[in-house]
Amino acid sequence: MKKKALDWGNLSFSYIETDYRFSAIWEDGEWSEGELITSSEMSVHEGSPVLHYAQTCFEGLKAQTAPNGDILLFRPDLNCERMASTTARLMMPGVPDALFMRGVEEAVRANASWVPPHGSGASLYIRPFLVGVGENLGLRPAPRYEFRVFVSPVGPYYKGGGLSLIDLAVIDLDRAAPKGTGAYKAGANYAGGLMATQMAKDLGASEALYLDPAEHRYLEEAGSANIVVLLKDGTLVTPKSPSILPSVTRRSVMTLAADALGHKTEERAIDFLAEVDQIDEFAACGTAAVISPVGKIRMNDKWYTFFGGGEAIGPVTQALYDRLTAIQKGETDDPYGWTRVVAL
Ligand SMILES: Cc1ncc(COP(=O)(O)O)c(C=O)c1O
Repeated sequence: MKKKALDWGNLSFSYIETDYRFSAIWEDGEWSEGELITSSEMSVHEGSPVLHYAQTCFEGLKAQTAPNGDILLFRPDLNCERMASTTARLMMPGVPDALFMRGVEEAVRANASWVPPHGSGASLYIRPFLVGVGENLGLRPAPRYEFRVFVSPVGPYYKGGGLSLIDLAVIDLDRAAPKGTGAYKAGANYAGGLMATQMAKDLGASEALYLDPAEHRYLEEAGSANIVVLLKDGTLVTPKSPSILPSVTRRSVMTLAADALGHKTEERAIDFLAEVDQIDEFAACGTAAVISPVGKIRMNDKWYTFFGGGEAIGPVTQALYDRLTAIQKGETDDPYGWTRVVAL
């Protein structure tokens, strides 16, 4: 497979237009067959519910090239499952599992020359999404939906690349409400988070860190990543909350920590200020963030530092990153069957 002439090692996390995208339409209770198209534009009616009432949801996953040239998807079944729970919450028609998987695989296969080569440090980001379109005015579900999947080669999400330290800041804004849509990948959650991210950046951090929206006491998640913390007693803990996104990466990291590294793991509420002295390593995890070690967290005008005074990457974070990325890139065996080869 002849690859595109990109400077793979220096890509950032931004959109690069590839040759094809997959599109399927829902109307009158039926899904179309779906097809590859070339135009990156979408033309929608001005009354479309996606434009006014944010009736839109999305997923994000990556494809990577293995040493033998296979293109690997990482746990696409979990993205499919999460999209189904989101569409149900937003009163959108479910994308059938087979259509979701075919859309992802066809978009990747058709753009195989855009999948970064093994060892380049880059990957192909895959963005399946569903929007409610068609003539409408009142607050009701759309009459028509488009499911699209586009792909873009990307580099690291945070500045610095690879496994580099990031800082987070707790901002006095909520991302989600206790019984709202925080656990779903709804577009509306992200518009509301733009200001918090900017405020965090203004404080010198990479991203906002949210506390629970009911009491503002327990850790939730970062703007685009879940979090895991390693306590000084060796337990890896991740927040349990009904208003955070169930991250595919975080679930994988917790499995690896227990199975491969022998850590005790817990999913429970974490009272940040009460427990911060017990935290050794702190990390953010997500498809885009992979596992990003967190050096410092700013809260109430104070910076809290973790492993190595916030200046070094903790060994457990490093080990989890190495294990996870080796499976994702097909560099080691895959005992859990997490990767799926895209047939070319
Ligand atoms: C709010 C939020 N939390 C967590 C994550 C991480 O989820 P995943 O590991 O499934 O990518 C994401 C997306 O990457 C996200 O947008």
